[in-house]
Amino acid sequence: MENLGFRIFKARVTQKLFGKRLDIRKSWEDTPKGYQDMVDFLNWFDATKSVQETIVKASSDWQYRFEKLPHFPRLPKRAALEIGFGGGRLLSQAAKHFETAYGVDIHQNFSMTKKFLSSQGVGNSALFHRDEIGRIPDESIDLIYSFIVFQHFDKIEEVDFYLDHIHRLLSPEGVAHIYFGKNKNEGIKVTSDDDFLLRDCSLFINPKSMLDRVSKRFQVLSFQDVLPRDPVTNTGESVQAMILFGK
Ligand SMILES: C[S@@+](CC[C@H](N)C(=O)[O-])C[C@H]1O[C@@H](n2cnc3c(N)ncnc32)[C@H](O)[C@@H]1O
Repeated sequence: MENLGFRIFKARVTQKLFGKRLDIRKSWEDTPKGYQDMVDFLNWFDATKSVQETIVKASSDWQYRFEKLPHFPRLPKRAALEIGFGGGRLLSQAAKHFETAYGVDIHQNFSMTKKFLSSQGVGNSALFHRDEIGRIPDESIDLIYSFIVFQHFDKIEEVDFYLDHIHRLLSPEGVAHIYFGKNKNEGIKVTSDDDFLLRDCSLFINPKSMLDRVSKRFQVLSFQDVLPRDPVTNTGESVQAMILFGK
């Protein structure tokens, strides 16, 4: 298997030279099944050179992006659900705090995620394909979270699909904590399949638009449109904004 950097470079050159069209959703569904080596697999979802590096980064992302927020200690810890779990690095963190860590995704290599989770001693997770999300019982989840995922959707309707399920799934005390790709201009910007480059962001939402969208059905508890790229050193600016809400 060629390395990811080369693969992305080759895909982008081919696209530019031959105007090759890439189906955004299919690229997220199909590409991971080509990775059987654990580091290559994890690297597709979040750049890494080793399993150890993935674990260290996951621990820091979990701590700074989720656990440090004031609502976290007060949450019941029965079940968490990650939207877009990828290789499973954040699920392995959630599993330390919650009785069950559920995940939904669209990729076609859940067996490698299961292998990663089992290598980390995680025995309390359950993975579902996005189309099986209806199997998770109503009002059963105390934390629904998502990180570096909403920016990879190919249409705004996918946000509404998840907002509908979040509404159904959240326990009365539960919260949803969602990071999304921000559009610094007004409204929503979606990349077309014609312009999409492998692994790039494709959905950009003006933070105010997201706030309006969520506020129609939920109680917004926290909202941040400027976040540090590196939360440990508190430097740079992330491409993501964050919204935290309950019913
Ligand atoms: C950049 S990876 C991030 C994975 C993980 N959240 C992490 O932080 O390591 C983006 C993930 O979003 C998933 N994804 C893309 N579109 C999705 C959708 N419509 N529903 C669920 N997951 C999706 C991809 O398959 C991939 O696992």
